[in-house]
Amino acid sequence: MTDPVKVTFHGHATVTVESDGHTILIDPFFSGNPMAKIGPDDVNPDFILISHGHGDHVGDAISIAKRTGALVISNFEIVTWLGNHGVEKTHPLHIGGGNTFPFGYAKMTVAHHGSSLPDGTYGGDPGGFLLRLNSGKTIYFAGDTALVAEMKFLAKEDVDLAILPVGDNFTMGPDDAIRAAQLIRPKFVLPIHYNTWPYIEIDINNLKERMIKEAEVGVAVLEPEETFIVP
Ligand code: NI
Ligand code: MN
Repeated sequence: MTDPVKVTFHGHATVTVESDGHTILIDPFFSGNPMAKIGPDDVNPDFILISHGHGDHVGDAISIAKRTGALVISNFEIVTWLGNHGVEKTHPLHIGGGNTFPFGYAKMTVAHHGSSLPDGTYGGDPGGFLLRLNSGKTIYFAGDTALVAEMKFLAKEDVDLAILPVGDNFTMGPDDAIRAAQLIRPKFVLPIHYNTWPYIEIDINNLKERMIKEAEVGVAVLEPEETFIVP
């Protein structure tokens, strides 16, 4: 019996996945994140995954990677940029490609969005991650994205938890997030990327009720620093 997989929400689009003794921090945005209750020095990941180049996703990756020595996994353009900023341990992936890491298999998935880095450097194509964890659980982190038809391929992956942006304006809003859940057919959805700023304010309880009914999934709405144990 392995330890349960734990997913902790840090506010906005930042989550930590703990699995099999590994700590995987995704889109580490703490400094300047109005939802964050902890700072970049409070996390100690082994791995950092970055979905795209925008500042609310690259966030504190450089300082956390330098302090912890975590391996940073992102697309080729973003890890090259991080390398130019002194991050030594990186692994480049690109859309549709995956690799086996100590925690399991991670593959970059399609996202429709932008990916320029904070200083304007080209950040390649935005993506998401499909994580087939050694613990047996499968997690999909969509990244910032529109509803994309490619999500229907994920129905074959037996996704235990889909982490989906729902805040509208910059990404899918509630209607499209429900359609995404209908395509992916995960057991649970963790909504992210909402209520951080006025542009992305939504009624999260209404979304939760609708998604449970219309997509027949469980929905885990978390406060910052709350943890969901993947059943
Ligand atoms: Ni973005
Ligand atoms: Mn974003």
